[in-house]
Amino acid sequence: MVIGTERTVHLSHNKFTLHGFQMVKLSESNSQPWRQLKRQSWTFVDGGEAQHTQYMHTLSTETLKPATIYSYRIITIGDDGESSEGTDNSFESKVFELHTPAKSSKGSSSFKFIATGDIGVNNAVSMPLFKQFVTSHEYDFVAFVGDQGYNLDDFNGTKGDEYMKFAEELYANLPILTTTGNHEQAYNFSHYKNRFDLMPYRESGFDNALQYSINYKNLHLVSFDTEVFFEGSEEEVLTALHWLEEDLIEANKRRSKVPWIIVFGHRPLYCSVMSSSDCVEKAEKLRFGEPVDKNYGLETLLSRYKVDLYLCGHKHNYERSYPVLNNTLVTTSYHNPPSFFQVITGNGGNYEGCDKFDDMTNTAAIPKWLGNHYEGYGFTTVEVSRNRLDLHHYEVQEDGTLGDLRDQVRVHKTKGHVKKQAKLAAEAA
Ligand SMILES: [Fe+2]
Repeated sequence: MVIGTERTVHLSHNKFTLHGFQMVKLSESNSQPWRQLKRQSWTFVDGGEAQHTQYMHTLSTETLKPATIYSYRIITIGDDGESSEGTDNSFESKVFELHTPAKSSKGSSSFKFIATGDIGVNNAVSMPLFKQFVTSHEYDFVAFVGDQGYNLDDFNGTKGDEYMKFAEELYANLPILTTTGNHEQAYNFSHYKNRFDLMPYRESGFDNALQYSINYKNLHLVSFDTEVFFEGSEEEVLTALHWLEEDLIEANKRRSKVPWIIVFGHRPLYCSVMSSSDCVEKAEKLRFGEPVDKNYGLETLLSRYKVDLYLCGHKHNYERSYPVLNNTLVTTSYHNPPSFFQVITGNGGNYEGCDKFDDMTNTAAIPKWLGNHYEGYGFTTVEVSRNRLDLHHYEVQEDGTLGDLRDQVRVHKTKGHVKKQAKLAAEAA
C-alpha cells in the first residue's frame, strides 16, 4: 500500500497468477458490497538461473473519504469475471485495515511517520513492533530508507516473496514509501522497480520507482536513488540530479504552504566510522558528485534548495548530525537552521547485525558535526507540524520489544525563516 495524492491509496498484492482481484470495502459500517477496483497486472522475470516469472498486481481505489478507517480484503476472480472460489487460483486474504488522513486545517495538520531501513527477514528486530503499530493508527506512513529483504533477488527471487509475505501485516495496513539501496541493485534493480512500482513516480515525472516525491500536509518528501552514484552511468547520475533539482525548485515555489522538505535516500552523506569507505570516499562522492562534477552532487542540491533534513540508512546504527555543510559543522542549534541536518536510521535489524562505531576515546577524532549516535537496534519517528519537526529515536531490544528513548530533537522554523529559505532557493535556481 502506498500513500498517493488526494487520499488515493494503491494496493499491491503478489500472487502466482494474473487472475483478477476484487476488494471489499467494509468501511465503518461493515455493510458495503464488494467493489471491483481498477487493476494493473504485469510480469517480470527474475534474472537468476531459474528465470522465475514474477506476477505483480496493483489496485487503485477511488478517492477515499478523509479521516476514515477502511477495512478491506483481496479475493481472486476468474478471467470471466466470476468468482474463482474453489478453483486452484482461488485466494482470499484476511481483512486488513487502513486509515486516511484528516483534512488539513489550522491546528490539526500535524502527523507522524516512521523512518527505518536495512531490514530483512532474518533478525528483523523492529518488525514485530511495526506490526503492532498498525492497529494504533498513530502513524500515517513508513518511510523505508533502503535495503529491504536481504535480498529481494536471492534464491531466484524467492527471498523477495518470503520478505513481502513476512512484512505483509505491516505493508497491508500502513502506507509505505520506499527508496532503493545497494541490496536491491541486482538485475538493474528489477525486483525493486517491479515490487515497488506503486510508488508515485509517474505523478512525479520520473521513469521508474527509483525516484519520486509527494506533498503530504506540511511536508514535501522526496525519495532519491543514491545507488545511481555507484551503479549508474554519468548520464543516469545527471538525470537523477536534474530531476531532483527541478523537483526542489517546484517545492520551493510552494514553500509558504508546504514549509518542510525532507529527502530520503539510502547512503549517508556523513557518518562517523572513518575506518569505512562509506564514511570517507563514498560519502564524498555522494556529496559533491565526484567524478561527474565536483559541484553537482546530492549535498550541493540539498544546500542550494534549502532542504531541512536528509534521512538515510546503509550504516546499521543511528547517527544524528547537527546542521552541516561541506563536512563542517554549521551550528549546534536547530532553531531556524541555515543548513540541512542528517539522520541515519539503518538499525531496523537484519542478519548482518549492527555496525560498530570507531573507538571514540580520542575525542579529537569525533567529527564536530556529530550530534548524537547510538549503536543498537531502533527506529525513528518524525512528527511534522507547521513550524516544527520532532524526531525521536527509540531502541528496540533484541527480543523485539520497545526499549528506551535514545535520542530526540526538535527543529523549529519561523515564518520568516521559511520565507528566507524560499527566497534563497529561488535566487539559486
Ligand atoms: Fe546498504
